[in-house]
Amino acid sequence: MTTDSPPATPTRPRVLVLFGGRSSEHEVSCLSARGVLWAIDRDAYDVVPVGITKDGRWTLLPDGVPVTREGTLPQVPAGAPEVVLAVTDRGAVLLGLPDEGGGTLVDHGPVDVCFPVLHGPYGEDGTIQGHLASLGVPYVGADVAASAIAIDKRQMKHVFAAAGLPQVAHDVVLRPDWEADRDAELARLEAALGFPMFTKPARQGSSIGITRVADRAALVEGVEEALRYDRVVVVEQGLDDVRELECGVIGNDEVRVTPPGETIHAGDAFYDFEAKYLAPVELRCPADVPADVAAACSRYAAAAYRAIGARGMARVDFFYDAAGERLLVNEINTIPGLTPQSMFPPVWEAAGLPFKQLISTLLELAIEASAADGRFSP
Ligand SMILES: Nc1ncnc2c1ncn2[C@@H]1O[C@H](COP(=O)(O)OP(=O)(O)O)[C@@H](O)[C@H]1O
Ligand SMILES: [Mg+2]
Repeated sequence: MTTDSPPATPTRPRVLVLFGGRSSEHEVSCLSARGVLWAIDRDAYDVVPVGITKDGRWTLLPDGVPVTREGTLPQVPAGAPEVVLAVTDRGAVLLGLPDEGGGTLVDHGPVDVCFPVLHGPYGEDGTIQGHLASLGVPYVGADVAASAIAIDKRQMKHVFAAAGLPQVAHDVVLRPDWEADRDAELARLEAALGFPMFTKPARQGSSIGITRVADRAALVEGVEEALRYDRVVVVEQGLDDVRELECGVIGNDEVRVTPPGETIHAGDAFYDFEAKYLAPVELRCPADVPADVAAACSRYAAAAYRAIGARGMARVDFFYDAAGERLLVNEINTIPGLTPQSMFPPVWEAAGLPFKQLISTLLELAIEASAADGRFSP
């Protein structure tokens, strides 16, 4: 007779969900993380939520993103226990730091895969991806290089141009040139682009630091504003009366692309931070556009994804000028917003992939990419 061995404890992969962070999109990241934490399949995965404070401390928040009053945006609170990610003989683990009184490191268990739900610099730009890659932790989304290209509107436009994708006319202002000869910079921009223009910090997101400018005085202010966020400013020709279409893309070697959705925002300004997260937004999935326009969006979205070398997921955004019959690629986002106002979940839902399944697929793609030894870069 044999003795019964104890039932094997089911081992579910443990997902580190990172949110908050040092960028000016901290609050947006918290909103996105709320959705992701809700959607992760708890039968298939264990979950460890870690909020990164605005000054960069990693803190353990077992209850996830704090609840906030209506009309206010959530933040990672101060005071939660601080943790670090480290590699040990058991693989990657989360370790709790001792408090000021000293003591030992607390073992908070292994990490099998990370979902960085972070937007903007230090989250979506390759830096956190490099940290995770160097520790050997699989993560959701684009690798270091693709993330760094996508966050940088100047580099992204170079790569898109090389891939033959249609884009709005633009120019670049560098801080040292602006400081040395502002008039020459202004004259060049006005001759090349004409008013209105859009001034943008090269590496930001959520419309932060972006201004629509209609004359020289406003252009000076717009460039100065963008320079507060970055030493590189992208200046674009401003398009009036354009519709904004967005496609979702997921996959590693093989990609799936959604038909475009459309964001319709109230007000006549532009889709600024306030409009994106604090005011009601109407999302139409799929967008009501001619079939050939929808097909072109999906085709360009897949081409943009390939061009930057994305994996996991991305959202590709377009400007559609119905009167002029022009479709232009605006940008690619490698960690698209996953908030209740965001387009990425509903375009997938409309394409037959509900949010919970989408999140499971993204985690599977992350594990697949890391298991495909050498086929994907860090
Ligand atoms: N060249 C442009 N012409 C017209 N509207 C623009 C232009 N560039 C940006 N916008 C408006 O500003 C918003 C934010 O710009 P975008 O380049 O997408 O920056 P972010 O990376 O912050 O999302 C766009 O969604 C659109 O509403
Ligand atoms: Mg955008």
